[in-house]
Amino acid sequence: LPDWLDGRSIVLVGLMGAGKTSIGRRLAARLGLPFRDADAEIELAAGCTIAELFTRFGEREFRDGERRVIRRLLAGDQIVLATGGGAFMDAETRATMRRDAVSIWLRCRLPTLLRRVAGRTHRPLLNGDDPAQVLERLMVARHPIYAEADIIVDCGDDSPDATTTQVLDAL
Ligand code: S3P
Repeated sequence: LPDWLDGRSIVLVGLMGAGKTSIGRRLAARLGLPFRDADAEIELAAGCTIAELFTRFGEREFRDGERRVIRRLLAGDQIVLATGGGAFMDAETRATMRRDAVSIWLRCRLPTLLRRVAGRTHRPLLNGDDPAQVLERLMVARHPIYAEADIIVDCGDDSPDATTTQVLDAL
């Protein structure tokens, strides 16, 4: 583990399909840290899927839960944490991350994201509209905020293992 982490957790941020969960899992294994996935923890806490949370209670409630779950996870032991694509858009969550963690933005190009989200139906924001249009809109809105992450890694179209190595080099 790099000394300068000083016990802080590592948080992966970026758009849907950026590979936050796949890279996070590998990164945790290679650093010998526990891995957590914020979306999975929200589902555990809520007792239902994120898609169900969106339809039953709306995005607003989901975001409140997401903020609480991330605050709790980062208040505990050092971990590698994959977050949902919208988590970093919340100012309070960003402040928590700035205090308790090192944030890494997995920056990917649109075709890469599209290929990775294709055919998956568990993401409420991608259901209904053309995924290319949704992701393009989210890129415009979110990239300037993701850019506030401590570290930016350009992912290209590489395998998860190759990208994990890139992240380790950046640390
Ligand atoms: C969202 C991303 C999803 C999930 C929810 C909302 C977003 O996570 O949290 O569907 O706002 O970008 P992934 O980025 O892991 O798909």
